[in-house]
Amino acid sequence: MFIAADLPTDDKPRFYAELAAQARALLEGETDRIANAANLAALAYQALPRINWAGFYFYDGRELVLGPFQGKPACVRIALGRGVCGAAASQRQTQLVADVHAFPGHIACDAASRSEIVVPLVLGDELLGVWDVDSPEPGRFDQDDRQGMQALCAVFLESLSMK
Ligand code: SME
Repeated sequence: MFIAADLPTDDKPRFYAELAAQARALLEGETDRIANAANLAALAYQALPRINWAGFYFYDGRELVLGPFQGKPACVRIALGRGVCGAAASQRQTQLVADVHAFPGHIACDAASRSEIVVPLVLGDELLGVWDVDSPEPGRFDQDDRQGMQALCAVFLESLSMK
């Protein structure tokens, strides 16, 4: 299986290109949403340096519900518009939060989290959920991470409809 070792951490665009390639290979031939989300969370959690949580919330038509993840146990349900995840889901825009303490309504699942990135998962016109990654380091995520995480989410979304 994939261990995500030896990815170049000094060159973020290359790091994410190689991570996306590993993700594509890992999810190939499987369309099950839970299985692919679980494997992607595990891959990302192993590969990404200086993070303490990585995982999914899925939209059930009413609110966000916790999906596969790696890290400490997290809150299960998040209303649209609440916290960083709720903002990403309701605005359908990636949220890059350098200091979670300064984000109004931030939901602290792990007190160690200091910065966060949340990417909305939108398939066609439908909101599927969000991909959330937390770091114990303030300002951990930048524009390279935004691009890279969005590319990783695109691999996940593609996998759901590929045979
Ligand atoms: N901090 C998130 C909640 C989810 S946990 O970080 C896993 C938020 O404010 O939406």
